[in-house]
Amino acid sequence: MSVDAALAAARGMKEASLARLVELVSIPSISTDPAHAPDIRRAAEWVAERLRALGAEAVSIDETARHPVVYGEVRSDPAAPTLLVYGHYDVQPVDPVELWDSPPFSPTVRDGKLYARGACDDKGQLMTHLEAVAAWRAAGLQPPVNLKIVLEGEEEIGSPNLGDWVRARRERLGADLAVISDTSMLAPGTPSICYGLRGLAYVEIEVSGPPGDLHSGVYGGAVKNPASALAQIIAALHDEQGRVTVPGFYDKVRALDPAERAALAAVPFDLGAFRQVTGQAGGWGDPDHSIVERLGARPTLEVNGLWSGWTGPGAKTVLPAKAHAKVSMRLVPDQDPHEAAAQLAAHVQALCPAGVTVTVRELHGGWPARVDTQLPAMRAAARALEAAFGRAPHFTLEGGSVPVVALLEQELGLDTVMLGFGLPDDNLHAPNEKFNLENYYLGIETNLHFLANLAQAGRGA
Ligand code: BES
Ligand code: MN
Ligand code: MN
Repeated sequence: MSVDAALAAARGMKEASLARLVELVSIPSISTDPAHAPDIRRAAEWVAERLRALGAEAVSIDETARHPVVYGEVRSDPAAPTLLVYGHYDVQPVDPVELWDSPPFSPTVRDGKLYARGACDDKGQLMTHLEAVAAWRAAGLQPPVNLKIVLEGEEEIGSPNLGDWVRARRERLGADLAVISDTSMLAPGTPSICYGLRGLAYVEIEVSGPPGDLHSGVYGGAVKNPASALAQIIAALHDEQGRVTVPGFYDKVRALDPAERAALAAVPFDLGAFRQVTGQAGGWGDPDHSIVERLGARPTLEVNGLWSGWTGPGAKTVLPAKAHAKVSMRLVPDQDPHEAAAQLAAHVQALCPAGVTVTVRELHGGWPARVDTQLPAMRAAARALEAAFGRAPHFTLEGGSVPVVALLEQELGLDTVMLGFGLPDDNLHAPNEKFNLENYYLGIETNLHFLANLAQAGRGA
């Protein structure tokens, strides 16, 4: 079987696979920071060069209004299925940088884990796909399916230009299926397939009071304070039970049917790890739902940032002119990100106390995603994980968002299989992000099996 030769090749080149990942994570491709635009460019060039080295055709670095999309095709047999592979080569900022045990862009292996920003999210995971192609090549073989590889540089800033990029290439991107590795598994040795991600609506709230900052002694007591007003508004966004109070917020939320609830209850959720990472004994939130349901199947509203007045060292007596908050809502089917943002804006207006005014600005959003667990491709993925990890995967819902999943469905009609190799304690977006190297190598092997399984099932399966 040709997959055996590719597996042997993958096992024989682990050091080289690691060395290539180390090169990629050394590039500080922070998409949100304009100062890092040249590094984003370098990362785009690095992955494009890697695609060329793998024998990909039609490799391009496509300019967008901000950061480029890198594209390439690995052509095999026109009669074989075509798989669209998506990954993102941009990363989150590193602050607070002083909390890293090794510098975020000086990748370091400790105890079988690679520590670096982007090691897991998403450079390590996207590399499992490129290294799988490398393994087929090293075995002197073609991958058994055709690949269309899309590597984005703006995922961490909400993919503002990806929709246009996809819409301009509808024909070219035609495929039978998409695969994304940008999610997690349950625990080491416990693989899972994520069949749903939450959507996102992200807004900024600005409360305005006096035309300028005031002396808090001279004017305090006779002027409504914008910071207090914002605190009042935010405090009213949840009820005592942790439910979101925004009118209409839950209207379109699909109810969980008993079978799905039972299946989610059977997922071996690691409560110990949850407690360790969160520092919370019992968790917080809607008492009508389990922690697993709260994290994946239910919508949320969270304050992501809050600032006003004097926040520097020591005291400054000031009654601030403005107060700000960044608020995100995680959404589940069939909520609509724009509708959720509008509902929140209306509610915030209604809650705004006299003496101040408030504005709500939508920053970005994304639609929730669900994948049918009964799809033949999901079965092919489950068998691939079982072959690589020696255990059948669980089907999970995850709370994070990868808006491209819904985009591929809406624009190209593609189902996406989410083969995630991260772990719950990989510190995504936080100091000491890491990637378990065992998952890196087994991720590569999973992809080899997955491609072989897809090829065997044939087109339209
Ligand atoms: N890979 C993550 C999302 C993720 C993490 C899904 C873990 C499942 C498990 C992705 O890079 C991410 O961080 N997405 C952002 C949304 C984006 C629009 C900024 C998120 O979820 O906050
Ligand atoms: Mn990601
Ligand atoms: Mn991320």
